[in-house]
Amino acid sequence: MPSAQTAAERIAELRSEIDAHNYRYYVLDEPSVPDAEYDRLFKELKALEAEHPELVTPESPTQRVGGEALATFGQVRHEVPMLSLGNAFEEKHLVDFDRRVREGLDLPAGDLFGAGAEVEYSCEPKLDGLAVSLLYENGHLVRGATRGDGSTGEDISANVRTVRNIPLKLHGTGWPAVLEVRGEIYMPKAGFEALNARQLESGAKPFANPRNAAAGSLRQLDSKITASRPLELCAYGVGRSDGELPDTHIGILNALKSWGLPISRELKLAKGIADCWAYYDAIGEKRDALPYEIDGVVFKVNSVAQQRELGFRAREPRWAIAHKFPAREEVTELLDVEFQVGRTGAITPVARLKPVQVAGVTVSNATLHNMDEVARLGVMIGDTVIVRRAGDVIPQILGLIPERRPADARAVQVPEQCPVCGSAVERTQLIKRSKGRESVSEGSIYRCVGRLACQAQLKQAIIHFVSRRAMDIDGLGDKIVEQLVDRGLVNSPADLYCLTREQVIELEGFAEISTRNLLNAIDASRKPTLARFIYALGIPDVGEETAKLLARALGSLERIGRALPDVLVYLPEIGLEVAHEIHSFFEDEHNRTVITQLRARGVELQEEGELHPEFAACATLAGLIDKLNIPFIASTGAQRLADRFGSLDAIISADWLDLRQVERLTEKAARSLRDYFDHPENARRARQIEAQLREFGMHWQSERKQAAGLPLAGQTWVLTGTLETMSRDEGKARLEALGAKVAGSVSAKTTCVVAGPGAGSKLAKANELGLEVLDEEVFLERLAGLKGIGRD
Ligand code: IVH
Repeated sequence: MPSAQTAAERIAELRSEIDAHNYRYYVLDEPSVPDAEYDRLFKELKALEAEHPELVTPESPTQRVGGEALATFGQVRHEVPMLSLGNAFEEKHLVDFDRRVREGLDLPAGDLFGAGAEVEYSCEPKLDGLAVSLLYENGHLVRGATRGDGSTGEDISANVRTVRNIPLKLHGTGWPAVLEVRGEIYMPKAGFEALNARQLESGAKPFANPRNAAAGSLRQLDSKITASRPLELCAYGVGRSDGELPDTHIGILNALKSWGLPISRELKLAKGIADCWAYYDAIGEKRDALPYEIDGVVFKVNSVAQQRELGFRAREPRWAIAHKFPAREEVTELLDVEFQVGRTGAITPVARLKPVQVAGVTVSNATLHNMDEVARLGVMIGDTVIVRRAGDVIPQILGLIPERRPADARAVQVPEQCPVCGSAVERTQLIKRSKGRESVSEGSIYRCVGRLACQAQLKQAIIHFVSRRAMDIDGLGDKIVEQLVDRGLVNSPADLYCLTREQVIELEGFAEISTRNLLNAIDASRKPTLARFIYALGIPDVGEETAKLLARALGSLERIGRALPDVLVYLPEIGLEVAHEIHSFFEDEHNRTVITQLRARGVELQEEGELHPEFAACATLAGLIDKLNIPFIASTGAQRLADRFGSLDAIISADWLDLRQVERLTEKAARSLRDYFDHPENARRARQIEAQLREFGMHWQSERKQAAGLPLAGQTWVLTGTLETMSRDEGKARLEALGAKVAGSVSAKTTCVVAGPGAGSKLAKANELGLEVLDEEVFLERLAGLKGIGRD
C-alpha cells in the first residue's frame, strides 16, 4: 500500500477492483485476470479488513461466506405476484399461443404477401433451478426471497448474498431507486458433479439432479452451507420498480446486465413464431453442451406495451410461454438385473427395464455401475425406478419410488459364478498403506477370475489388443474377433499370429483379397513400440499414458515385468494399487505364457533397452524411507535420517544411541523406526527394494550426477497453496524428475515459488524476498516446455 494511501482508501480500491473482475468474469464471460491475481487481491482485502474490522461492510466481496444459522425463514409478500408460465409441448401449442397473442393485440393474421403482422418475441432458455426475487433499494441488495406460492415466499436474504454472481450493490447508474429483479438460481452441471462427489466421499446422500441440489442448497437455514455450494443466478425479468425502464423485455435485460446482473448468454430476438421454432431447435441441439441444465425455452412478447395490453389469465401471463423439451426422466419397472463381464473381468450389473420412452428414445437397459451403486440406490428387482437419459450417455437409474415396491421384490445378488464361463467371482480388494502397514479392504468391483479362459474377457481382450492405439491391426473388427473366438481359432492374443489363409477365408464375409489384407495387417503389427505393447496387454488400470511412462522409465519389458510394486511407485502418477495390478499381471502364469508365445511367433518389441537417465533422479534414500510409511517418520524425518546415515544398511543397523543423535528426531520416531526394522520381514523388504532400485540404476548415490544433466538441476522450488490440476505430491514428483529440489520453506536460496489458492505466509515471504512466483497455469506451461520423466 503506498504510504500516502489510507487503509480505507486501499480497501475501497480493492473492493471496486474485485467487483470489476467479478463483473467481467460472471456477467461478460471475459475473465480479465488470472485466478492467482484475483486471489491475491482478495487476500490483500481480507488481511486489511482483519486489521481494520471497523471498515468491514456487508457488501464487501469477503462477506459471501454466510452468517449465523436461522431458526426459521421469515415470510415475504410479493407485491407483484410471481407468476408461472403456460407450457407448449408441440408445434400446435406454439402456433395457438402466437394466434392468441395476435388476436389479443388486434394484429391481422399473416397473409400470402408477407409477415407484416409478426410479433417480436424474446427467446431465452428455461433454466432448471429455483425462481427468486432480489430486492434492490438505492442500488443495495436488501432482500432475497423464494417464489413460494407466487404471493408469499420465504426470506432467504442471507443465502442469496452468498451466491457469487449476484451483485450486492448495483453497478453503473440509472437504476430505479426500488428495483426487484427476478431470476433463476441454479447449479451448473460441473459444480453439481463436484458437489455430489464430495457428498459421496463424506458419506452423505448425493442429489438426484442439479435442480434438487440448487433447491436444497438455497433452503438452508445455515447460510454457511449455501456459501459452500456452487450456485449461480440468471436474471430474467423485473417485478417491482419505481423508475423508468426500457420499453422492451430485451432492453430491460440489457439494462440489468449493465447494472451488474448476469443474464442469459443465449438471449435472442425472434421476429414471428417461425423464428421461435428455429430457436427451440437450435437450443435443443446445444442442450448437452450447455454448462447448466435447461428444461425448455421461454418466449416472451418483447414489447412491454404489448405485454400490458395482453395482461394475465389466472396465474399465467398471456404474453409468455414455456416451450418444453421432452422429459429426460421417466418412471418404469426394474424387471431384472443381469451381469456383464468386461475386459478385465469386472462384472457390471445392468438393469433390464420395462421399455419406456425417455426424451424420444425407447429405453430398456440402464447401467448400475457396480454393487456399491446398487446398495446406494437401494433398488430391488420389481421396484419402480426413475430413469434418466441425457444426450448419448447410457441411461441411468436415479432412484426409486419406495411406495410402489411390490411384496415380492427381490434383492440384487452378485452371481457366485461368472455368467459367461462359470469361473468363480471374487470381490476386488483395495490395498492401502498407512503407518507402515498395508491394509486390505473390500472394493466395489467383482471380477470373474477366469481371465482369458472366459470367452467374454477373451473377446474384449482381443478387441483391445488389436485396437488402433494398441497393436493397430486394421480390419479386425469386433464381429470378426467374435467369430475367431467362437470358432476356437483364437484363444489368446498370441493365436492371432498363427492364423492361416485357410482359416480366415472360411470366416463369414471373407474372400481372397480380404483374407490377404487381414493377414498382411496382422503381419504389419509385429513390431510395436514397447509402450504400445504394454498398453495392448490390457493390464487393469494401465491406460496409454501409464504404458508410455513405464516404457520410457524402465526401457524393457523384462524390467517392467520384474519391477516390485514398491519400485513402481517411484514413477510419478503410479499409485500402490496400479503398481500391484502391474506386478500381479506379470506374476500370472498364463500371462507369462502368452507373452512368451507372442515373442516366439515373431512379435518383436521396439524396446528402448536403456533405462531413462532421468528416472534416477526420482529415487533417493530419503524417498525410500519416506515411502516405507514408518509411523512417526514424516518426509523431513526421512531426510534427516538419510543425511545422517547415508545408506539403508546403516539405518537398518543403527542402534538406539545412533538414532538419538539425529537432530530433531523425537524419541517416539526413533523407537518406531527401531520397532519397524526389528521385524525381519520389513528389513528384508526394504533391502529388496533397494537392491532393485540399485539394479535399475535408480540409486540415490547417482542422484546428483544424474540431476546435473536435467533442466532444473541446482534449483530449489517451493509449492504452496492448493494446486487444482494435480496434487502437491505430483507437482513435487514432476519437479524432482526435472532435477529440481523441492523445499518446504521459502528462503533466499529458493529459485521459484508455485502458489495456488490459499497460499499464505510462504507466498508473503516470497514476495518480500522478491522471488519469482508462478500461478498454476504458468507453472504448467513451464513444465510442458521442459522434458523430464513421465511426459513426452
Ligand atoms: S419467466 C411471468 N424466464 O420457470 C414470467 N421463467 O414455469 C415468469 N424459469 O417460476 C417466469 N427460466 O422458475 C422465466 N428464462 C426464464 C426462466 C423461467 C426458468 C422458471 C421460473 C418460473 C418457471 C415458470
